[in-house]
Amino acid sequence: MNTFSLFTPGRVNLIGEHTDYNDGLVLPMAIEKGIVMKVSRRDDRLAVLRSDHQETSITLDLTNELLAGEHHWSCYLQGVIAGFQRLGWEIPGFDCEVSATLPSGGGLSSSAALEVGMATVIETLCERKISLEEKALLCQKAEHEFAGVPCGIMDQFAVTFGKADHALLLDCRDRQIEYVPLDPQVAILVINCGVKHSLADGEYAQRRSQCEQAASELGVSSLRDVSWQRWQQESATLSGVVRQRAQHVLSEHQRTLTFVEALKNQQWQSAGAAMYASHESLRDDYAVSCAELDQLVEISRLIAGVHGCRMTGGGFGGCVVALIDPHHATAIMAAFREQYLQQTGIDAEMFVTRAANGPLVEVIA
Ligand code: GLA
Repeated sequence: MNTFSLFTPGRVNLIGEHTDYNDGLVLPMAIEKGIVMKVSRRDDRLAVLRSDHQETSITLDLTNELLAGEHHWSCYLQGVIAGFQRLGWEIPGFDCEVSATLPSGGGLSSSAALEVGMATVIETLCERKISLEEKALLCQKAEHEFAGVPCGIMDQFAVTFGKADHALLLDCRDRQIEYVPLDPQVAILVINCGVKHSLADGEYAQRRSQCEQAASELGVSSLRDVSWQRWQQESATLSGVVRQRAQHVLSEHQRTLTFVEALKNQQWQSAGAAMYASHESLRDDYAVSCAELDQLVEISRLIAGVHGCRMTGGGFGGCVVALIDPHHATAIMAAFREQYLQQTGIDAEMFVTRAANGPLVEVIA
Protein backbone atom coordinates (compact mmCIF):
# COMPACT_ATOMS: atom_id res chain seq x y z
CA MET A 1 0.00 0.00 0.00
CA ASN A 2 1.61 3.27 -1.11
CA THR A 3 -0.92 5.91 -0.17
CA PHE A 4 -3.52 5.64 2.52
CA SER A 5 -5.51 7.64 4.98
CA LEU A 6 -6.03 6.69 8.60
CA PHE A 7 -8.54 7.83 11.17
CA THR A 8 -7.71 7.31 14.86
CA PRO A 9 -10.32 8.23 17.47
CA GLY A 10 -9.86 10.26 20.63
CA ARG A 11 -11.48 9.05 23.83
CA VAL A 12 -13.73 10.23 26.61
CA ASN A 13 -13.73 8.58 30.02
CA LEU A 14 -17.20 7.92 31.45
CA ILE A 15 -15.96 7.14 34.97
CA GLY A 16 -12.91 5.71 36.79
CA GLU A 17 -10.69 8.81 36.88
CA HIS A 18 -7.09 8.81 38.10
CA THR A 19 -7.46 5.13 38.87
CA ASP A 20 -5.45 3.63 35.98
CA TYR A 21 -2.03 4.22 37.56
CA ASN A 22 -3.40 2.72 40.78
CA ASP A 23 -4.12 -0.58 38.98
CA GLY A 24 -7.85 0.20 39.16
CA LEU A 25 -10.89 0.15 36.86
CA VAL A 26 -11.63 2.70 34.12
CA LEU A 27 -14.59 3.01 31.73
CA PRO A 28 -13.57 5.04 28.67
CA MET A 29 -14.88 4.86 25.10
CA ALA A 30 -13.33 5.87 21.77
CA ILE A 31 -15.23 8.79 20.20
CA GLU A 32 -16.19 9.88 16.68
CA LYS A 33 -13.71 12.76 16.69
CA GLY A 34 -10.03 12.06 16.28
CA ILE A 35 -6.88 12.46 14.22
CA VAL A 36 -6.58 11.98 10.46
CA MET A 37 -3.23 11.02 8.90
CA LYS A 38 -2.65 11.04 5.13
CA VAL A 39 0.38 8.91 4.35
CA SER A 40 2.44 8.31 1.19
CA ARG A 41 5.43 6.00 0.95
CA ARG A 42 8.72 7.58 -0.17
CA ASP A 43 11.64 6.02 -2.01
CA ASP A 44 14.19 7.12 0.60
CA ARG A 45 14.40 6.54 4.39
CA LEU A 46 13.08 9.92 5.49
CA ALA A 47 9.91 10.51 7.49
CA VAL A 48 8.43 13.94 6.74
CA LEU A 49 5.77 14.93 9.28
CA ARG A 50 3.39 17.85 8.75
CA SER A 51 0.54 19.17 10.83
CA ASP A 52 -2.19 21.47 9.56
CA HIS A 53 -1.63 23.50 12.76
CA GLN A 54 2.06 24.22 12.08
CA GLU A 55 3.91 26.06 9.33
CA THR A 56 7.05 23.97 9.32
CA SER A 57 7.45 20.26 8.73
CA ILE A 58 9.74 17.85 10.61
CA THR A 59 12.12 15.60 8.70
CA LEU A 60 13.55 12.52 10.39
CA ASP A 61 16.25 10.21 9.10
CA LEU A 62 14.94 6.72 9.82
CA THR A 63 18.37 5.14 9.39
CA ASN A 64 19.30 6.75 12.74
CA GLU A 65 17.88 5.65 16.05
CA LEU A 66 15.51 8.42 17.22
CA LEU A 67 16.17 9.83 20.67
CA ALA A 68 13.94 11.86 22.97
CA GLY A 69 14.52 15.59 22.54
CA GLU A 70 12.66 18.76 23.30
CA HIS A 71 8.88 18.62 23.69
CA HIS A 72 7.13 19.38 20.42
CA TRP A 73 3.89 18.21 18.74
CA SER A 74 5.85 15.57 16.83
CA CYS A 75 7.37 14.00 19.97
CA TYR A 76 4.39 11.64 20.28
CA LEU A 77 5.06 10.41 16.73
CA GLN A 78 8.81 10.23 17.20
CA GLY A 79 8.44 8.20 20.39
CA VAL A 80 6.37 5.60 18.55
CA ILE A 81 8.80 5.42 15.61
CA ALA A 82 11.61 4.90 18.15
CA GLY A 83 9.60 2.12 19.80
CA PHE A 84 9.36 0.20 16.51
CA GLN A 85 13.03 0.86 15.77
CA ARG A 86 13.83 -0.81 19.11
CA LEU A 87 11.80 -3.81 18.03
CA GLY A 88 14.16 -4.02 15.05
CA TRP A 89 11.64 -2.98 12.37
CA GLU A 90 13.05 -1.39 9.17
CA ILE A 91 10.62 1.44 8.58
CA PRO A 92 10.46 2.75 4.99
CA GLY A 93 10.43 6.50 4.30
CA PHE A 94 7.05 8.23 4.27
CA ASP A 95 5.24 11.57 4.20
CA CYS A 96 2.56 12.04 6.85
CA GLU A 97 0.08 14.92 7.02
CA VAL A 98 -1.74 15.21 10.31
CA SER A 99 -5.04 16.99 10.90
CA ALA A 100 -7.52 16.78 13.77
CA THR A 101 -11.26 16.89 14.32
CA LEU A 102 -10.61 16.77 18.08
CA PRO A 103 -10.44 20.03 20.02
CA SER A 104 -6.76 20.47 20.85
CA GLY A 105 -5.88 20.64 24.55
CA GLY A 106 -9.39 19.43 25.34
CA GLY A 107 -8.29 16.39 27.33
CA LEU A 108 -9.77 13.97 24.77
CA SER A 109 -6.48 12.14 24.24
CA SER A 110 -5.26 13.71 21.05
CA SER A 111 -1.80 12.55 22.16
CA ALA A 112 -2.87 8.90 22.43
CA ALA A 113 -4.60 9.23 19.04
CA LEU A 114 -1.36 10.56 17.53
CA GLU A 115 0.62 7.71 19.06
CA VAL A 116 -1.74 4.87 18.17
CA GLY A 117 -2.24 6.45 14.72
CA MET A 118 1.51 6.46 14.09
CA ALA A 119 1.84 2.86 15.29
CA THR A 120 -0.87 1.87 12.80
CA VAL A 121 0.88 3.84 10.03
CA ILE A 122 4.08 1.89 10.67
CA GLU A 123 2.23 -1.44 10.75
CA THR A 124 0.53 -0.59 7.46
CA LEU A 125 3.78 0.49 5.77
CA CYS A 126 5.64 -2.59 7.02
CA GLU A 127 2.73 -4.96 6.33
CA ARG A 128 3.03 -6.64 9.72
CA LYS A 129 1.46 -6.17 13.12
CA ILE A 130 2.11 -6.41 16.82
CA SER A 131 -0.71 -7.40 19.19
CA LEU A 132 -3.14 -4.68 20.20
CA GLU A 133 -1.91 -4.85 23.78
CA GLU A 134 1.75 -4.51 22.74
CA LYS A 135 0.76 -1.60 20.54
CA ALA A 136 -1.04 0.27 23.34
CA LEU A 137 1.90 -0.32 25.71
CA LEU A 138 4.47 0.81 23.14
CA CYS A 139 2.46 4.02 22.71
CA GLN A 140 2.25 4.59 26.47
CA LYS A 141 6.03 4.19 26.67
CA ALA A 142 6.46 6.73 23.87
CA GLU A 143 4.47 9.24 25.91
CA HIS A 144 6.55 8.56 29.04
CA GLU A 145 9.89 8.84 27.26
CA PHE A 146 9.34 11.39 24.50
CA ALA A 147 6.64 13.65 26.00
CA GLY A 148 7.75 13.27 29.63
CA VAL A 149 4.20 12.52 30.86
CA PRO A 150 3.99 9.61 33.36
CA CYS A 151 0.49 8.62 32.16
CA GLY A 152 -1.36 5.39 32.95
CA ILE A 153 -2.63 2.96 30.32
CA MET A 154 -6.21 4.18 29.92
CA ASP A 155 -5.90 6.49 26.92
CA GLN A 156 -3.83 4.26 24.66
CA PHE A 157 -6.02 1.23 25.48
CA ALA A 158 -9.26 3.18 24.91
CA VAL A 159 -8.08 4.34 21.49
CA THR A 160 -6.58 1.01 20.41
CA PHE A 161 -9.44 -1.22 21.61
CA GLY A 162 -12.34 1.15 20.77
CA LYS A 163 -15.54 -0.63 19.76
CA ALA A 164 -18.61 1.01 18.18
CA ASP A 165 -21.47 1.56 20.63
CA HIS A 166 -19.53 0.10 23.56
CA ALA A 167 -17.58 1.49 26.48
CA LEU A 168 -14.55 -0.45 27.62
CA LEU A 169 -14.37 -1.58 31.22
CA LEU A 170 -10.61 -1.98 31.56
CA ASP A 171 -9.05 -3.54 34.60
CA CYS A 172 -5.69 -1.81 34.66
CA ARG A 173 -4.16 -4.50 36.88
CA ASP A 174 -4.53 -7.51 34.58
CA ARG A 175 -5.52 -5.50 31.46
CA GLN A 176 -8.71 -7.50 30.94
CA ILE A 177 -11.39 -5.72 28.94
CA GLU A 178 -15.13 -6.14 29.21
CA TYR A 179 -17.12 -4.31 26.53
CA VAL A 180 -20.19 -2.66 28.06
CA PRO A 181 -22.95 -1.87 25.51
CA LEU A 182 -24.22 1.72 25.51
CA ASP A 183 -27.99 1.73 25.42
CA PRO A 184 -29.54 4.01 22.75
CA GLN A 185 -31.85 5.39 25.47
CA VAL A 186 -28.90 7.49 26.62
CA ALA A 187 -26.39 9.65 24.75
CA ILE A 188 -22.94 10.95 25.61
CA LEU A 189 -22.44 14.71 25.44
CA VAL A 190 -18.93 16.18 25.63
CA ILE A 191 -18.40 19.86 26.43
CA ASN A 192 -15.05 21.60 26.27
CA CYS A 193 -14.83 24.24 29.00
CA GLY A 194 -12.38 26.12 26.78
CA VAL A 195 -9.46 26.45 29.19
CA LYS A 196 -6.40 24.38 30.01
CA HIS A 197 -4.56 25.43 33.14
CA SER A 198 -0.81 25.16 32.83
CA LEU A 199 -0.15 23.39 36.13
CA ALA A 200 -1.55 20.15 34.67
CA ASP A 201 1.66 18.17 34.07
CA GLY A 202 3.51 18.70 37.35
CA GLU A 203 0.29 18.19 39.31
CA TYR A 204 -0.36 14.88 37.52
CA ALA A 205 3.01 13.46 38.56
CA GLN A 206 2.46 14.76 42.08
CA ARG A 207 -0.92 12.97 42.36
CA ARG A 208 0.75 9.77 41.22
CA SER A 209 3.39 9.98 43.90
CA GLN A 210 0.85 10.85 46.60
CA CYS A 211 -1.02 7.65 45.68
CA GLU A 212 2.22 5.68 45.86
CA GLN A 213 2.88 7.15 49.28
CA ALA A 214 -0.62 6.16 50.44
CA ALA A 215 -0.07 2.61 49.19
CA SER A 216 3.28 2.34 50.89
CA GLU A 217 1.90 3.66 54.20
CA LEU A 218 -0.81 1.02 53.97
CA GLY A 219 1.83 -1.64 53.25
CA VAL A 220 0.61 -2.59 49.74
CA SER A 221 2.20 -2.21 46.32
CA SER A 222 -0.78 -0.36 44.84
CA LEU A 223 -4.05 1.11 46.15
CA ARG A 224 -5.92 -1.61 44.23
CA ASP A 225 -4.87 -4.01 46.98
CA VAL A 226 -6.87 -2.10 49.58
CA SER A 227 -10.46 -3.32 49.82
CA TRP A 228 -13.28 -0.87 50.47
CA GLN A 229 -13.96 -2.64 53.74
CA ARG A 230 -10.37 -2.29 54.88
CA TRP A 231 -10.34 1.37 53.87
CA GLN A 232 -13.47 2.04 55.94
CA GLN A 233 -11.65 0.70 58.97
CA GLU A 234 -8.16 2.10 58.37
CA SER A 235 -8.49 5.39 56.52
CA ALA A 236 -7.72 7.32 59.70
CA THR A 237 -4.21 5.83 59.77
CA LEU A 238 -3.31 8.15 56.87
CA SER A 239 -3.30 11.88 57.24
CA GLY A 240 -3.97 15.08 55.32
CA VAL A 241 -3.63 15.22 51.59
CA VAL A 242 -2.41 11.62 51.21
CA ARG A 243 -5.58 10.35 52.92
CA GLN A 244 -7.75 12.52 50.64
CA ARG A 245 -6.04 11.23 47.49
CA ALA A 246 -6.53 7.62 48.58
CA GLN A 247 -10.14 8.39 49.53
CA HIS A 248 -10.79 9.52 45.96
CA VAL A 249 -9.11 6.51 44.34
CA LEU A 250 -10.83 3.93 46.57
CA SER A 251 -14.26 5.54 46.39
CA GLU A 252 -13.93 5.98 42.61
CA HIS A 253 -13.45 2.23 42.34
CA GLN A 254 -16.80 1.69 44.08
CA ARG A 255 -18.49 4.31 41.89
CA THR A 256 -17.19 2.68 38.73
CA LEU A 257 -18.73 -0.65 39.78
CA THR A 258 -22.00 1.12 40.64
CA PHE A 259 -22.03 2.99 37.33
CA VAL A 260 -21.47 -0.16 35.25
CA GLU A 261 -24.26 -2.00 37.09
CA ALA A 262 -26.58 0.97 36.61
CA LEU A 263 -25.78 1.14 32.87
CA LYS A 264 -26.47 -2.58 32.48
CA ASN A 265 -29.80 -2.21 34.31
CA GLN A 266 -30.84 1.01 32.55
CA GLN A 267 -30.89 2.90 35.87
CA TRP A 268 -29.93 6.27 34.47
CA GLN A 269 -30.49 8.21 37.66
CA SER A 270 -28.22 5.98 39.63
CA ALA A 271 -25.56 6.14 36.87
CA GLY A 272 -25.88 9.94 36.90
CA ALA A 273 -25.56 10.11 40.69
CA ALA A 274 -22.28 8.16 40.46
CA MET A 275 -21.01 10.70 37.91
CA TYR A 276 -21.88 13.66 40.14
CA ALA A 277 -20.23 11.96 43.13
CA SER A 278 -17.15 11.29 40.98
CA HIS A 279 -16.92 14.97 40.10
CA GLU A 280 -17.22 16.05 43.73
CA SER A 281 -14.50 13.63 44.74
CA LEU A 282 -12.18 14.83 41.95
CA ARG A 283 -12.89 18.43 42.96
CA ASP A 284 -12.61 18.09 46.74
CA ASP A 285 -10.41 15.09 47.54
CA TYR A 286 -8.26 14.83 44.43
CA ALA A 287 -8.17 18.59 43.68
CA VAL A 288 -7.86 18.28 39.89
CA SER A 289 -10.94 20.22 38.79
CA CYS A 290 -11.11 23.96 38.09
CA ALA A 291 -13.73 26.72 38.31
CA GLU A 292 -14.84 26.35 34.67
CA LEU A 293 -15.40 22.57 34.91
CA ASP A 294 -17.26 23.04 38.20
CA GLN A 295 -19.47 25.67 36.58
CA LEU A 296 -20.47 23.33 33.75
CA VAL A 297 -21.33 20.59 36.25
CA GLU A 298 -23.41 23.00 38.32
CA ILE A 299 -25.23 24.21 35.20
CA SER A 300 -26.01 20.59 34.26
CA ARG A 301 -27.87 19.98 37.52
CA LEU A 302 -30.63 22.36 36.45
CA ILE A 303 -31.12 21.12 32.88
CA ALA A 304 -33.96 18.66 32.28
CA GLY A 305 -32.81 15.46 30.56
CA VAL A 306 -29.26 15.46 32.02
CA HIS A 307 -28.78 12.32 34.16
CA GLY A 308 -25.24 13.09 35.29
CA CYS A 309 -22.15 15.14 34.48
CA ARG A 310 -18.50 15.16 35.56
CA MET A 311 -15.07 16.36 34.52
CA THR A 312 -13.29 13.81 32.36
CA GLY A 313 -9.59 13.06 31.83
CA GLY A 314 -6.62 14.41 33.75
CA GLY A 315 -8.34 17.66 34.81
CA PHE A 316 -7.30 21.34 35.32
CA GLY A 317 -9.42 22.21 32.28
CA GLY A 318 -10.52 20.28 29.23
CA CYS A 319 -13.94 18.67 29.05
CA VAL A 320 -16.92 17.47 31.03
CA VAL A 321 -18.90 14.41 29.97
CA ALA A 322 -22.65 14.19 30.50
CA LEU A 323 -25.07 11.28 30.26
CA ILE A 324 -28.21 12.66 28.67
CA ASP A 325 -31.59 11.78 27.22
CA PRO A 326 -30.99 11.86 23.43
CA HIS A 327 -34.52 13.13 22.76
CA HIS A 328 -33.62 16.40 24.47
CA ALA A 329 -30.08 16.74 23.10
CA THR A 330 -30.70 19.95 21.17
CA ALA A 331 -32.41 21.75 24.05
CA ILE A 332 -29.78 20.48 26.52
CA MET A 333 -26.91 21.80 24.38
CA ALA A 334 -28.64 25.14 23.92
CA ALA A 335 -29.13 25.48 27.67
CA PHE A 336 -25.48 24.64 28.43
CA ARG A 337 -24.26 27.07 25.78
CA GLU A 338 -26.43 29.95 26.91
CA GLN A 339 -25.76 29.62 30.63
CA TYR A 340 -22.02 28.99 30.33
CA LEU A 341 -21.66 31.93 27.95
CA GLN A 342 -23.54 34.12 30.36
CA GLN A 343 -21.40 33.06 33.33
CA THR A 344 -17.95 32.97 31.73
CA GLY A 345 -18.09 34.71 28.36
CA ILE A 346 -16.88 31.47 26.75
CA ASP A 347 -18.82 29.96 23.86
CA ALA A 348 -18.20 26.30 24.68
CA GLU A 349 -17.59 23.77 21.94
CA MET A 350 -19.76 20.68 22.47
CA PHE A 351 -20.88 17.55 20.66
CA VAL A 352 -22.85 14.37 21.15
CA THR A 353 -20.83 11.30 20.24
CA ARG A 354 -21.38 7.60 19.88
CA ALA A 355 -18.69 5.15 20.91
CA ALA A 356 -16.38 4.50 17.95
CA ASN A 357 -14.09 1.76 16.67
CA GLY A 358 -10.29 1.94 16.99
CA PRO A 359 -8.01 3.04 14.10
CA LEU A 360 -9.41 2.66 10.58
CA VAL A 361 -7.18 2.54 7.49
CA GLU A 362 -8.54 3.50 4.07
CA VAL A 363 -6.46 2.59 1.01
CA ILE A 364 -6.07 5.36 -1.54
CA ALA A 365 -3.51 3.77 -3.88
C1 GLA B 1 -4.71 11.34 31.72
C2 GLA B 1 -3.75 10.15 31.65
C3 GLA B 1 -4.49 8.84 31.92
C4 GLA B 1 -5.32 8.91 33.20
C5 GLA B 1 -6.17 10.18 33.21
C6 GLA B 1 -6.90 10.37 34.52
O1 GLA B 1 -5.64 11.28 30.67
O2 GLA B 1 -3.14 10.09 30.37
O3 GLA B 1 -3.57 7.77 31.97
O4 GLA B 1 -4.50 8.82 34.33
O5 GLA B 1 -5.39 11.34 32.96
O6 GLA B 1 -7.85 9.38 34.71
